[in-house]
Amino acid sequence: MRKTSIVITGLIAAVSLSFAFTKPDKPRYENLKVLSKNTTKQEMDSIMKHFAASLGVKCNFCHVRGTDAQNNFDFASDKSEHKLAARGMLKMTNKINKKFFKENKDANRIAAVTCYTCHNGHENPATRPPAPAPRTPEQSQPQPPAQQQSSSQ
Ligand code: HEC
Ligand code: HEC
Repeated sequence: MRKTSIVITGLIAAVSLSFAFTKPDKPRYENLKVLSKNTTKQEMDSIMKHFAASLGVKCNFCHVRGTDAQNNFDFASDKSEHKLAARGMLKMTNKINKKFFKENKDANRIAAVTCYTCHNGHENPATRPPAPAPRTPEQSQPQPPAQQQSSSQ
């Protein structure tokens, strides 16, 4: 009888202790310097998918693999130069939006700048527009003189 109650008390203590150590206060992510520490998994998935799609890359462009047996991603690691570049870009993008797109009073203004605005699916954004398409043979034919010019001669 005494023995069982000790076991039960022990069990209760173990359960409440494990609750104490898995308090939801513990941040889910280890190394966020720009994104909110309270970012949920759902938000993180959506942000990271946006990064990857905006640059036309996969997670491994910015994240290195860990040293565990499964060779899983070590998402918290800052070993990748691309991740550091992306963090700077995130700061810049936030700054642009804060400074220039505070309030969307002007209906003609686009509400915000995102990674995709500049990157458009590429690692490095284009800095000049594409060259004009080559002229078709029809366009190369000499054009008839304009009406006004011929009448004034
Ligand atoms: C263009 C670069 C880039 C790509 C691509 C990218 N990430 Fe990230 N990721 C980052 C940056 C930068 C941070 C850190 C943000 C910060 O410091 O606030 C981060 C942080 C994370 C974290 C949080 C790690 C921690 O514990 O601190 C996870 C998880 C993550 N990324 C998952 C992914 C997944 C999954 C993909 C692919 C769908 C992906 N990332 C693609 C740049 C990238
Ligand atoms: C205002 C335009 C602009 C926005 C917005 C922008 N970028 Fe960039 N990004 C650039 C330019 C320009 C470069 C090329 C810089 C260079 O070549 O040194 C670049 C380069 C990068 C690189 C380095 C690529 C490489 O090959 O190393 C990464 C990574 C990156 N951006 C991620 C992001 C992410 C993630 C976002 C959104 C949070 C973002 N960028 C938003 C303009 C932008």
